[in-house]
Amino acid sequence: MSSTVLVRLTGIVAIAALFSLIFLFFWTSPLTNCPPQQPQFKEHSDRHHEGTNNSLTEETVEKPVLLLWVWPQNYRFDLSDCKTIYNIDGCHLTDDRALYSSSDAVLVFHRAINQDLSGLPPSPRPPFQKWIWLNVESPTNTQKIPGIENLFNLTLSYREDADISVRLRLTSNKTPNENFTIPKKDKLVCWIVSNNFDWTGVGARNTYYNELKKHVNIHMFGSAYAKRLAYEDYYPTIASCKFYLSFENSLHKDYITEKFNGPLSAGTVPVVLGPPRKNYERFAPRDSFIHVDDFTDAKSLAEYLTQLDRDEDAYRRYFNWRRHFSARPHLILQNQEFILAICTACDHVGRHKEYQEAHDIYEWFFN
Ligand SMILES: *[C@@H]1O[C@H](CO)[C@@H](O)[C@H](O)[C@H]1NC(C)=O
Ligand SMILES: *[C@@H]1O[C@H](CO)[C@@H](O)[C@H](O)[C@H]1NC(C)=O
Ligand SMILES: *[C@@H]1O[C@H](CO)[C@@H](O)[C@H](O)[C@H]1NC(C)=O
Repeated sequence: MSSTVLVRLTGIVAIAALFSLIFLFFWTSPLTNCPPQQPQFKEHSDRHHEGTNNSLTEETVEKPVLLLWVWPQNYRFDLSDCKTIYNIDGCHLTDDRALYSSSDAVLVFHRAINQDLSGLPPSPRPPFQKWIWLNVESPTNTQKIPGIENLFNLTLSYREDADISVRLRLTSNKTPNENFTIPKKDKLVCWIVSNNFDWTGVGARNTYYNELKKHVNIHMFGSAYAKRLAYEDYYPTIASCKFYLSFENSLHKDYITEKFNGPLSAGTVPVVLGPPRKNYERFAPRDSFIHVDDFTDAKSLAEYLTQLDRDEDAYRRYFNWRRHFSARPHLILQNQEFILAICTACDHVGRHKEYQEAHDIYEWFFN
């Protein structure tokens, strides 16, 4: 072999090796390895070709059936409220137990389960069916029923780490809202209390209230201390106060309820007692509320509120957030108490079909 032939052969081998390397690289490279995209593109182009009829695919998809096993506390509402109030339409919501064996998910209200486990839907459940543990109370007000810890597929709670987390949230404004005006005020501090049963954990807030009222006048409403407030007076009453005591009945992470949303949506500054300030700041801007922990005692809080009463500019700053965020009023009628929770479950069930088990729900919920 002449040396020129040898050089050429070496060259060809080298080029061949290079090509196989390049080929191997692209073949194994994850960049080219995304088959899930394929069907999507196909579906889109198919629809595009159809042009005249887009409704075809949507109409053939059936909505999952969500069965409300019992009406929580027997508070009934119109099942179409999810659509009309929250624009949630992802499931077929029903209370018809005859649909049990074909229900994709079943909502089980914790308080309706008895100690002997009667009150649960029948077993065995269809293999595709998910049970949802519905409990919007805090641990202090939740009774342990042994034997249900591993029965459920999904938890529904106010907790952020629940599978289905229920909360009315502030929303951002696309264009800044320049129109907000603080409602007319004729009272300084107000509080509406209907529950004052010791066993519900109200001790901490009562202690604080008893101290606070020594230093500032508090207008009381609600059946616990004063005349029961008519529903239609709820928002106007809160709006007429500069500050509203958003005192939770028991202190737990994420347990920040409609007592906080009420003043935020009415145009009043909430004074909160509940989990730490940082927890509140997960849900609302830091300058939208006053936390009792910001003060060494009730007396200094009272002095601060009195000072804000005289300083219009400082008070006004508690509303700056409203340029960029909006709060919406929550439902207040008694029979509306569980609508948001049930509709949120409907929304979730409509979006999630994957397998799921919820293990040791008490370990998660109580610890
Ligand atoms: C579109 O689909 C609907 C429902 O299947 C059908 O009633 C209608 O005739 C179709 N329209 C056209 C233009 O194909
Ligand atoms: C705010 O006021 C402007 C000017 O008066 C008006 O055009 C606009 O509709 C108002 N926006 C809202 C959200 O009320
Ligand atoms: C739901 O959870 C139960 C109990 O943990 C389990 O046996 C069942 O397979 C789950 N079903 C689905 C559809 O996720």
